[in-house]
Amino acid sequence: MKFQGSDQYVATADLMLAVNAAATLQRPLLIKGEPGTGKTMLAEEVATALGRPLLQWHIKSTTKAQQGLYEYDAVSRLRDSQLAGIEGSERVRNIENYIVKGVLWQAFEADEPVVLLIDEIDKADIEFPNDLLREIDRMEFYVYETRQLIKAKHRPLVFITSNNEKELPDAFLRRCFFHYIKFPDAETMQQIVNVHFPTLKKDLLAAALKNFYDVRNLPGLKKKPSTSELIDWLKLLLAEDVPVDALQSKDEKVSIPPLVGALLKNEQDLTLFEKLVFMQRNNR
Ligand SMILES: Nc1ncnc2c1ncn2[C@@H]1O[C@H](COP(=O)(O)OP(=O)(O)OP(=O)(O)O)[C@@H](O)[C@H]1O
Ligand SMILES: [Mg+2]
Repeated sequence: MKFQGSDQYVATADLMLAVNAAATLQRPLLIKGEPGTGKTMLAEEVATALGRPLLQWHIKSTTKAQQGLYEYDAVSRLRDSQLAGIEGSERVRNIENYIVKGVLWQAFEADEPVVLLIDEIDKADIEFPNDLLREIDRMEFYVYETRQLIKAKHRPLVFITSNNEKELPDAFLRRCFFHYIKFPDAETMQQIVNVHFPTLKKDLLAAALKNFYDVRNLPGLKKKPSTSELIDWLKLLLAEDVPVDALQSKDEKVSIPPLVGALLKNEQDLTLFEKLVFMQRNNR
């Protein structure tokens, strides 16, 4: 079982190595990287490539670790107990009917090995990763209400993504294999664009990439445009039928690209870029 990338997703050699290392170690792969560098998509692509089901758990600031295991639905039970006739009370008495399985439980009881994505773990509070140590390590947990031990039938292949908004605890890091997705270099970026727009003309692509890296390399940007923003922008350029000339200035100087709102997302960055263009114009 080796992941080689796919025709939707460009995986660099070190990324493939990381995926396969995590699979060999049977440890979660912790993936960091700028927004839009394909962290979430990686798990989806690995699942497709290996032909395994994908279970996703998207973490929010309010998510608790327990929700991934199971929740006890006391409200429904109370309501049922008030509404139920004699025949319904049988159901109410059995607490199992009110245990709602979380994503981890579903992954553990699946009949085939699954890919499990815990997306954006850094959004949760600081206790969250610590609360999952045993589950991730031993792949088991205890349901107190029913006195059951739930053990994984097959160890899922776990992907955990983070945007680095919070530090993760050392004990948690110890249990993971780590990979940082570097921002793609120009060559990799060309391959990525290629899988999205296979028929894009070479000169348009070259001009667009130059514009993109000009914007991205501007020192002092608050929010650098990412891979996914480049792809959005190219989509717009194609939809609007923007000619190559509009992306190139005759004197090889930086100019404001059309539809720049796809790349720059706040007014400070836009002003900064306009200033640069203005200065270049004036000292020729
Ligand atoms: N290596 C790649 N190959 C192909 N497409 C890519 C690649 N990297 C990024 N993309 C494009 O960028 C989009 C965003 O990727 P994704 O949602 O996985 O980013 P992310 O790293 O999870 O971002 P965030 O941190 O904001 O959640 C994808 O839908 C895809 O179109
Ligand atoms: Mg994501």
